[in-house]
Amino acid sequence: MHNLPIGVFDSGIGGLTVLRALRQALPRESFLYLGDTARLPYGTKTPASVVRYALQSTAVLCQQGIKLLVVACNTASAVALPSLRAAYAPLPVIGVVESGAKAACMVSRSGHIGVIGTEGTVRGGSYEREIIARRPSAQVHAQACQLFVALAEEGWFDTPVTRATAEAYLRPLLSRAPVDTLVLGCTHFPVLREAIAAVAGPGVTLVDSAQTVAQHVVHILENQGFAAMESKEGDLVFFATEGPERFARVGSLFFGATIRPEDVTLVDL
Ligand code: DGL
Repeated sequence: MHNLPIGVFDSGIGGLTVLRALRQALPRESFLYLGDTARLPYGTKTPASVVRYALQSTAVLCQQGIKLLVVACNTASAVALPSLRAAYAPLPVIGVVESGAKAACMVSRSGHIGVIGTEGTVRGGSYEREIIARRPSAQVHAQACQLFVALAEEGWFDTPVTRATAEAYLRPLLSRAPVDTLVLGCTHFPVLREAIAAVAGPGVTLVDSAQTVAQHVVHILENQGFAAMESKEGDLVFFATEGPERFARVGSLFFGATIRPEDVTLVDL
């Protein structure tokens, strides 16, 4: 069990922002990452489709053998965790929404918390529920920013188009509510941090759940006695359901280290 890899999946390359934090926190662990690039974006799909995609992505990772699963996608975390836990018990399944909500509650002073995510994440209201459960007096102001996913996948992290899009999505949110904290409730959004911060201004703290998720995983591995026993750096294996070259090229920017096309295996779900 100790030396089995940790499985991580997302609709695309956004989850590589989470993998990056996991890799930093757990350098001796091995990871299998799956980006379901053929069916991206998940954010515009119905909950039933997202649950089906999440189960199929997890099946591929489980066939390889994993000791823990990180759902590095807010859209899937919001709707698919109960189905994944039921289907793959006793595999520990960790989502990103709970960690993002927890981090936001710790950071916000005023209790006015903004949440940006995909259409699906915002429509489902999972962040509101998780934030209010921890901080009942909080006011949650959510805004879907679906186009950010396409901009991030395009590698347009801080271009004039990205800034104009951030302005169009965020200005109405910021003028209707005095938010002091903005949760990046989609794992594609941390790469757009500069463009988002330029509109949000210095009075708004941006919250990315990646670090909190990584700490949560460290805690679970220690508690369950599952941590890797190796003394060398762990392995990284990547799967994509479409376009391994594109995954490697743009994914390297998300991951902050080179991913070579030959490191990415094409899989059909
Ligand atoms: N990265 C994903 C998330 O965190 C989904 C983006 C999408 O596929 O729409 O929600």
